[in-house]
Amino acid sequence: MEGLRRSIGWPAAALVLTCAVLVLVPTEVSATRFIVGANNGWSSNVNYVIWAKGKHFYLGDWLFFVYDRHKMSVLEVNKRDYKNCNSNHPLHNWTTGAGRDVVPLNVTKTYYFISGKGFCRRGMKVTIRVEKPQPRPSSLP
Ligand SMILES: *[C@@H]1O[C@H](CO)[C@@H](O)[C@H](O)[C@H]1NC(C)=O
Ligand SMILES: *[C@@H]1O[C@H](CO)[C@@H](O)[C@H](O)[C@H]1NC(C)=O
Repeated sequence: MEGLRRSIGWPAAALVLTCAVLVLVPTEVSATRFIVGANNGWSSNVNYVIWAKGKHFYLGDWLFFVYDRHKMSVLEVNKRDYKNCNSNHPLHNWTTGAGRDVVPLNVTKTYYFISGKGFCRRGMKVTIRVEKPQPRPSSLP
């Protein structure tokens, strides 16, 4: 009887623990979805240095690129290709074809995005420096 109670006790304890974790996680991690260029979207009329200035991008945040799917694209490139607007060998081609592309910022690094098809030279390039989320004192046990 003692052994039976213990074997029931464990899964119950694990379930309680799992529920506690499920409840806690959403309050600790609040991801932000950034619409690149805000109301102007991903276009050649925006200075993305100004757009990104003062913003903090944290691990787990998202970038949302909204643009004319017949013209632009979303390419993640290295620093050199960013400088030179070289779209020949992107690190990652985020273009899905819908003109609405979502990029999860899941690595703590500096991301470089450009548009292909000549638009990079018309200012369609943005640097995103992703930081580790700041630990919040209120979330400590
Ligand atoms: C990126 O992907 C899109 C959609 O699949 C494709 O049309 C485009 O040619 C690709 N661009 C590059 C530079 O690979
Ligand atoms: C980040 O996301 C990309 C695209 O979904 C994926 O290829 C990559 O493995 C992910 N990296 C990490 C560290 O999760």
